Amino acid sequence: MSQETIPQLTAFDVAALDRSFGELLRSVQQEAARMVSADDREKFRLYWLGRKQGRLKSIGEAWLKTAPVEAKKAIGQRFNQLKEQIEQALDAGSPSVAARAAGRSAGPISDALDITLPGIRPGLGAEHPLIKTLHEVVGIFERMGYSVGIGPEVETDYYNFESLNFPPNHPARDTQDTLVVAGQEKKPLRERLLLRTHTSPVQIRTMEQQPPPLRIVIPGKVHRNDAADATHSPIFHQVEGLCVDTNITFSDLKGTLDHAMKELFGSSVKTRFFPSFFPFTEPSADVQISCIFCSGKGCRKCKHSGWIELLGCGMVDPAVFGFVREKQSAYDPKKISGFAFGMGIDRIAMMKYGISDIGLLYSGDMRFLEQFA
Ligand code: DAH
Repeated sequence: MSQETIPQLTAFDVAALDRSFGELLRSVQQEAARMVSADDREKFRLYWLGRKQGRLKSIGEAWLKTAPVEAKKAIGQRFNQLKEQIEQALDAGSPSVAARAAGRSAGPISDALDITLPGIRPGLGAEHPLIKTLHEVVGIFERMGYSVGIGPEVETDYYNFESLNFPPNHPARDTQDTLVVAGQEKKPLRERLLLRTHTSPVQIRTMEQQPPPLRIVIPGKVHRNDAADATHSPIFHQVEGLCVDTNITFSDLKGTLDHAMKELFGSSVKTRFFPSFFPFTEPSADVQISCIFCSGKGCRKCKHSGWIELLGCGMVDPAVFGFVREKQSAYDPKKISGFAFGMGIDRIAMMKYGISDIGLLYSGDMRFLEQFA
C-alpha cells in the first residue's frame, strides 16, 4: 500500500461518478483481501481512513474542490457510502472475526479466547422427589428378591376392572372415578380404553405372561377424575406388588409389608392391619403405620389417632386366578396362593419430605425442585 497519486475526476454525471467510485471500491476490496494479521488491518485502516493523510480524505478534498456546486451533494453521499464499505471490509477482515468464523484462533490468543475468565458451572440435575421415593420403595422390594414390571397407562376396561373382579355395573367401580377415552360406544365394554385408575391391571398382564412362582413390583402413573386440591391430583403414582407361589399365607403378607415399612420409615415404625374390601383380594386389609411425626402419641398429622393409613392389600381372590387361567393354566387356586398390595407414592413422598400440597409435585417450579438437589 504505497501512497499513490490522487486520481482525477473530470466528469460529474452519474455514469462518470459510478465509474470513478467503482474503481475506488475495487481497490479497497483488493487491499482488504490481502489483510492477514492485526498489523495489516491497522495499516489498511490508516491508509484509507487516517485522519490526516488518509486516502479517502485526500481524494474527497481534491474531488469536491473541482466539482461544480450541483454535483457536490452526490459526491459527498458517495464518499459516505464508500466509508461505510471500508469499515465493513475492516470488520470482516479483522483477525478475531475471521478466527471466530473459522472456529479457530488466529493471531494473538487474547483476540480469540480469554482463559482468565471464570468458567460456566453446569447446573446439576437431581431426581424429582416422586421418582426418588418410587426408586426407594422399589429398591426395598428388589432386595427381597422382587423383580420390576411395568404396564400401559391407557388400559382396557378388561384389565383395569373386569379381570380384577369388578363386574360390569358393579358399584365398586364407582370408587375409582375413571377417565375414559371418548367415542368407543361401538366396542364391547371389555375392549374400551380408559386411563388406568390403578397399577393393579399389571398384576393380570404379568401373570398372563409368566407362570408362578412370581414376585413383582410395578411402579407407575395412574389417573382419576378427581378435582385437584392440597391432597388430590388427577394424576398420581402407585407401586403395586404381587407374590404368587405355593403356600403363600397372610403371615407372609404381614411380614413382608411390616419389613418394607420399617425400611422406608425407620425400624421403630409399627404396622397394623384392618379389615377392608377390594374386589380382587379376599380377605383384604388396609395397612396403617404408627405416626412418624409423633411416634404414635397423637398429633394433627394423624388426626390424634397415632396411626396413618398407607396402603391396601390382601390375598389374591381365586376369581382373579380364574381370569388369568384363560391364558396361563398354572394359576390353579387349588395349588397356589398369593398376596397383593398397592400404595400411593405421592402421599409417601409428601410424608417423607414434609410437603403439604400435592400440586407442588407437578408444578415444575424450580424453587421447589432445587431443594432436592
Ligand atoms: N388398586 C387399589 C387402589 O388403587 C390398591 C390396592 C389394594 C392394590 C389392594 C392391591 C391390593 O394390589 O391388594 O385403590
